[in-house]
Amino acid sequence: MVLGELVKLRSLEPSEAEALWRWNHDPDVMRWMHDGYGQSLAQVKKTLEEHPRNTYSDVLYGIEVLADGQLIGLVRLRDTEPELGIAELDVYLGEKEYWGRGYATDAMRTICRYGFQKMRLHKITLTVATENHAAHHIYRKVGFIEEGRLRETLRRDGKWHDMFTMGLLEGELRG
Ligand SMILES: CC(C)(COP(=O)(O)OP(=O)(O)OC[C@H]1O[C@@H](n2cnc3c(N)ncnc32)[C@H](O)[C@@H]1OP(=O)(O)O)[C@@H](O)C(=O)NCCC(=O)NCCS
Repeated sequence: MVLGELVKLRSLEPSEAEALWRWNHDPDVMRWMHDGYGQSLAQVKKTLEEHPRNTYSDVLYGIEVLADGQLIGLVRLRDTEPELGIAELDVYLGEKEYWGRGYATDAMRTICRYGFQKMRLHKITLTVATENHAAHHIYRKVGFIEEGRLRETLRRDGKWHDMFTMGLLEGELRG
């Protein structure tokens, strides 16, 4: 368990599959995310049951609100390269009524601190659709900077969209 100011990050239980399945089928939540090919609730349950324990190369945590104990989203540090100390970060909040209350910003700071302090990472990277303004705003706010533009990398509503690749070095985390 990793404690932030507003949220705690903790492992997921197979019994929480329904929430994940619901979030993955919500078009507002998935608006700017790669949505894959869709999984049944049974498949999501199986994935959670069989997900190997968290390891250095893949840490997946649920985001739980400290004030009310509600699971509201996920954060993940994955594809970690030990020789380089680099990991890729994903974050999303599936419970829309919790948007705009600072939870994602706190979850970002908490997982980045964990990555730099506990995992001794040197760098954390992520990608974000250039039009996902709220996500882009919080990434910049905690210290990530754009390192490149991936042209036409996400397809939505019959149109191609660009993405930024962003990076945060050890010592650059803000707040
Ligand atoms: C993007 C997301 C993670 C933000 O989570 P959140 O908990 O609402 O974020 P916070 O409340 O911590 O911060 C939101 C910030 O974005 C700002 N914001 C909101 N809408 C915005 C917009 N359209 N343009 C610019 N900034 C915006 C808010 O003002 C706030 O900034 P502030 O604290 O400096 O005022 C969440 O909405 C989400 O999970 N969305 C769907 C999935 C997704 O897109 N994930 C990211 C994939 S890369």
